[in-house]
Amino acid sequence: MTSRLSSRRLILSQSAAVIGVASTGLLLPQIVRAQSSKVRVGFMLPYTGTFAQLGVAIENGFRLAIDQQGGKLGGREIEYFKVDDESDPSKGIENANKLVQRDKVDVLVGTVHSGVQMGIQKVARDSGVLSLIPNAGVHAATRSLCAPNVFRTSFANSQPTRALGQAMVARGHKKAVWITWKYAAGDEAFEGFKESYTAAGGTIIKELGLPFPNVEFQALLTEIAALKPDAVACFFAGGGAAKFIRDYAAAGLKGKIPLYGSGFLTEGVLDAAGPAADGIITTMHYSDSLDTPRNKAFRTAYASRFKMQPDVYAVQGYDTGLLLVQGANAVKGDLNSKPALYKAMESAVIDSPRGKWTMSKSHNPVQDIYLRVVENKENKVLGIAAKALADSGAGCKMT
Ligand code: PHB
Repeated sequence: MTSRLSSRRLILSQSAAVIGVASTGLLLPQIVRAQSSKVRVGFMLPYTGTFAQLGVAIENGFRLAIDQQGGKLGGREIEYFKVDDESDPSKGIENANKLVQRDKVDVLVGTVHSGVQMGIQKVARDSGVLSLIPNAGVHAATRSLCAPNVFRTSFANSQPTRALGQAMVARGHKKAVWITWKYAAGDEAFEGFKESYTAAGGTIIKELGLPFPNVEFQALLTEIAALKPDAVACFFAGGGAAKFIRDYAAAGLKGKIPLYGSGFLTEGVLDAAGPAADGIITTMHYSDSLDTPRNKAFRTAYASRFKMQPDVYAVQGYDTGLLLVQGANAVKGDLNSKPALYKAMESAVIDSPRGKWTMSKSHNPVQDIYLRVVENKENKVLGIAAKALADSGAGCKMT
């Protein structure tokens, strides 16, 4: 795709970026910006709603990584732009265009919600703008709709749960109920759970769901009590996850039916969830307690700068910054040198607080997945549940 795009490229002044017409007569979607002195970085993240804290953690992590490099990208100053995407998929394209068309960003960093990401993905593919995904795990972004200018620094939705089933069966839980928000992230997390749980000999006796971001869990918890599974596995995140954990305990299920989850369940919510979270076992590509100098240095720097503890979202934001720094340094700040920029990012080894990871061919992290348990408001690592786990990247053609 790179060479085809470059032959269609229009170099436009910053103020005059437009959509042009290719020599073929087709509508030309690619926008190429002249390099102004500052790199324009746009955050499209949730700053309100159930994922608001996730957006803040990602932005904090990103800024920390950049600031640790002297606050520059390939020698150039940075100007930041921000859009609150409200985790609203219906406004995804419009919000992405605010950054790409109106603010003319060189790099779009976003977002958290898989449905909103689909809007960003369309704008990224149409405009050619460099798109860095610091959370949303929607499969299509690095599978069927993958693109040379789109890189994910977080996970594919089924990656964390692909390591969960085996751990549950190994603990003797052979009959499980799955519960989630019904949208791409929950459905695709289920894909990983189903595969790993059934392969290990477990049976999923019921799939339960409610629309995002609904938090009326009561009727579903009553149903779980009646079903009497050996264990429950779930995908929830952010404010909704904290409420699910509290409601699970309040419904009398804690201590009776063990609760497992994709690790987002216990990320950034342990203060809000309190003792109700103790003992929850999850799988995730990060753990607070990873005993490495890299993780400790990151946690200390983050806590002293932002006066709060980092979580997996902060790590993902941080790694997004590290990836961009590597790319920008390789092209000395000339982000229009796209083949060289993409090549540097594709071959990057990210020295992350989560452990070193690399990019798959479809631009998704190849990373270790940890088994963790909540103890005293911390996600304690129990071991590695899957080593160097890659998503399949099924259907990805970088053309
Ligand atoms: C998603 O919508 O892809 C998503 C949201 C929050 C998470 C993980 C995935 O914690």
